[in-house]
Amino acid sequence: MTTDPTIPENRAIGLHTTGKIRPHQTQNEALVFEKSSPGKRAYKLPPLDVPAVDPATLLGTALREKGAELPELSEIEIVRHFTRLSTWNYAIDLGMYPLGSCTMKYNPRVNEAVARIEGLAEAHPYRPDSLAQGILEVIDLLQRCLIEITGMDAITLQPAAGAHGEFTGILLVRAWHELQGNPRRRVLIPDSAHGTNPATAAICGYTVENLKSNPEGGIDLEALAAQVDSETAALMLTNPSTIGVFESQIHKIAGILHAKGALLYMDGANMNALVGKARPGDFGVDVMHLNLHKTFSTPHGGGGPGSGPVACKAFLEPFLPIPVLVRNPQMHRAPSFPLLSAERVGDQEPQPASLSWSYDRPQSIGRVRAFYGNTGMFIRALAYILANGPDGLRQTTEDAVLNANYIRDKLQNIYELPYKTASMHEVVFSDKRQAARGVKTGDIAKRLIDYGFHPYTVSFPMIVHGALMIEPTESESLEELDLFIAAMRAIAREVEEMPELVKTAPHSTRVSRLDEVQAARKPILRWAPPAVPPIAR
Ligand SMILES: Cc1ncc(COP(=O)(O)O)c(C=O)c1O
Repeated sequence: MTTDPTIPENRAIGLHTTGKIRPHQTQNEALVFEKSSPGKRAYKLPPLDVPAVDPATLLGTALREKGAELPELSEIEIVRHFTRLSTWNYAIDLGMYPLGSCTMKYNPRVNEAVARIEGLAEAHPYRPDSLAQGILEVIDLLQRCLIEITGMDAITLQPAAGAHGEFTGILLVRAWHELQGNPRRRVLIPDSAHGTNPATAAICGYTVENLKSNPEGGIDLEALAAQVDSETAALMLTNPSTIGVFESQIHKIAGILHAKGALLYMDGANMNALVGKARPGDFGVDVMHLNLHKTFSTPHGGGGPGSGPVACKAFLEPFLPIPVLVRNPQMHRAPSFPLLSAERVGDQEPQPASLSWSYDRPQSIGRVRAFYGNTGMFIRALAYILANGPDGLRQTTEDAVLNANYIRDKLQNIYELPYKTASMHEVVFSDKRQAARGVKTGDIAKRLIDYGFHPYTVSFPMIVHGALMIEPTESESLEELDLFIAAMRAIAREVEEMPELVKTAPHSTRVSRLDEVQAARKPILRWAPPAVPPIAR
């Protein structure tokens, strides 16, 4: 493809007969299978110094008839291939990543340093509790920090993502209602909620009932009071909502629900706007989840895995997933680092464990994940919390909100602001003004790539037509925010003066605009050797 003489830049520089005409960051890269040539190797084994074994004798009928068609390349070809691919990724380590609703904040290096401490990194889930006290202390401390931050009474770290946390939380709600004699039938969800909320309610067996937001982006209390009845199991409230608005009436909302025996679930994935400032446990929330991979700086966006702890009030604690970490008050703490002493672990008398996993929970909803959760993420999140301390966490929240409002202030005379209510951690514009010139939010987002930024979130939330959802997080400096604002202003000017440029963006990437519908509907996910007819799709 790089030799295609119809590409103007190829003709211009007269290089259409060579295979390389662009710097590697913008050059396309063949698949590793396409680069393969028979016989190439990235390794060389020493001559056999043990008797040869005939695989057919050893494996019998399990022997495959034909060798696997693996790519054959030299070491440097493999290294270059994957290194080039890695340079195609946009990352928070390269620049601002204002993907609204995702809190793409910087993942501090201290998290990584701590997560690589051998005793933590190599803790095995099958290790007996008595020999795992170090990692159990980490888990326990994180639990206590998160309980303090949320103002709740109990927590499970098991869920592996935000949506998984929602699922766990609504199962707790269901279990509690079942114990009252009726699991109830409906879950109320405002139209400003995250999309995973209705999916969660449905998968837990509830009918989803929509609540329409009022003009300020909040919940209409009268409409809510009219809708809650004895079949309402819970309201799932994303707070701050996906339009970045804090639900200031939340305590009254809790009162309306509780009066009818319904519970308040808070989607706390947007806690980056609240940590150190307000605690859901203090404003009536019964159960909530957190996204460690958003608020607490663990890797996210292709770099996971995630973690979606669920915190709840004491009355829901008996239903938490097993196992639950318990501290045995009668026993003494085992030495944290027995390997530093002269004795080896195996030589020691078995130490009574001060922390252990309890499975004796008759009302538990059961396990929601293998083992204990994504432990590596617990270590990183705790490192982040301890490195910041209470003041640092509060400052982080203030900076995240300040950054979003700085962008709002600098762009609101150029892009339409559908909700005028104060913004928290993110600001949502609409493309109304640009759409009048035929340019949509998706076009502006693609053009942003040419300016060196990751796009904001496009066309979400659904309650804003043509949404541009921008979440800078606290990670960005004033200088980076100003660059982003300048890019957004420049694009708005382009929309006025040369809309086609924006509608056909990006122009600086390896591939130009992709057919997203085709990519979503008919993805080609498998490479097939050329000799084999393509698999019917
Ligand atoms: C508000 C909100 N709720 C729930 C989720 C779901 O989290 P996850 O993607 O980890 O399942 C997200 C994800 O970004 C979110 O922003």
